[in-house]
Order: sequence, then C-alpha cells, then structure tokens
Amino acid sequence: MDRRRFMKICGVTAAVAGLQARYTESVEAAELKEYSRVKLVDAQGQPIKAKSLTTKDAYVFNYPYAGTPCFLINLENKPAGGEKLMSDNGEYTWEGGTGPNGSIVAMTAICAHQLSYPKKDGTPISYYATEKSEDAGVAGVIVCCEHDRVYDPAHGGKMIATNKKATQPLASIRLEYDPATDELYAKGVYGGARFDDFFKAYKKELIEDYGVGGAKQEVADTAKTVLLSEYSAQKDRC
Ligand code: FES
Repeated sequence: MDRRRFMKICGVTAAVAGLQARYTESVEAAELKEYSRVKLVDAQGQPIKAKSLTTKDAYVFNYPYAGTPCFLINLENKPAGGEKLMSDNGEYTWEGGTGPNGSIVAMTAICAHQLSYPKKDGTPISYYATEKSEDAGVAGVIVCCEHDRVYDPAHGGKMIATNKKATQPLASIRLEYDPATDELYAKGVYGGARFDDFFKAYKKELIEDYGVGGAKQEVADTAKTVLLSEYSAQKDRC
C-alpha cells in the first residue's frame, strides 16, 4: 500500500472513530446521570406516602439541584414505559412509572423549549390533571403557555405534535419506590436535561430566590414535595 493511501485510510478511520466517540458521548449524555438518592418528603419533613398521592394535581420538588423544579405526577393509569425517546443529546429509553400501581412518574418542570419553569408567584407550565387544556384539547397533559408546547407525562414527557416546532421531551427523573415503607426516592436524571442553560438563562432570578450559587447546590437527603397549587401562587391556563 502506498504511503499516501495508507495515510488516507488512517485519516478516515480516525474520523470515523472520532464520530463514533462523539456519538457515544452524546448518547451517554441522554442516559441516566446519577445524583444523590433523595427521599421525597412533605412540607413538614415527613416522607411522602405514594398511596396517598392525588391524581388531581401535580406535585413539585426541586431536584437534582436546589433551584431546578420537577413534577411528580400520579397518573390515572399505569403507563406502558419502555419507549425509545429522542433528546437533543441522543436516544434513551423511558422507564415508565413506579409506585404501588406503577402510575407515578417524575420529570423536570423546566420547559424543553425555552426553559420556562414554575416560580413562587406563578407558573406558565402546569399539569392539566382533569381539566382540558385549550391548546391540547385534552386533559392529562403538561402544557407550557409561554409558547404553547404540550407534553405527555404518560409517554415520558414527549411533546405532543401541534403546529409548534418540535422540542425534545422533558427530561425524566428516575424514581425508586420502597413498597415496605410506601416511600419514594429520586435517584437520577436522564433524557435531555439542560440545567446549565437554565442556570445561565435565569441567573438573576435564581440569585434572588436562592442566593449566589444556592440554586446550583445539589439536593441531598430529602426534597420537599408540595402540590403545584401550593408551590406557585397562580397557574397560566391555555
Ligand atoms: S418556554 Fe415553554 S413553550 Fe416556550
């Protein structure tokens, strides 16, 4: 083999290896990232009991960071799970629900479009448990009224097709259920989490709410879990 052809083959091989490495990195980025195993507790610090969770509203807990809100939702029915979803970071498999009926799911409450999130004074992104969303025409969906994106919590937070430009699914939170105690734990995040973008986009607001660097503190031990209606004073409806 002449030297030029040999160098060309080496170059192509290296390029393919580079592409594969990048592809692997991007796929891994969508796979589970483990954080502290954190027990979900109520406003008084008592463990949330899975069997007592309502299906009529979403709960909010902050995880994996002090300033990153997530929805905890007890669906009416157990979702199938096992779906292959595509995030901006690559493909991943949504695990489905947990809890006594397999109906409890959790996903980030930070909109996958432009990162709107529930604040104390109000939230543009909400779970429509029983009431139909005007945008979606159905109940049982998460809707962000900022620019009308609709997500399906029974399918891993995947965006429901509308006339809006598609966005990736809401990133999922891995939960663990302890049947002996009926308690729930958050253990990690998978899918297209965009926490760094979120911290940059809302730096000023997060400093106001959590102090300098407070929002980026990893949650440890317990996470306070309250109804969305208690977490945010008002919900936008759309
Ligand atoms: S930020 Fe939620 S739809 Fe745009």
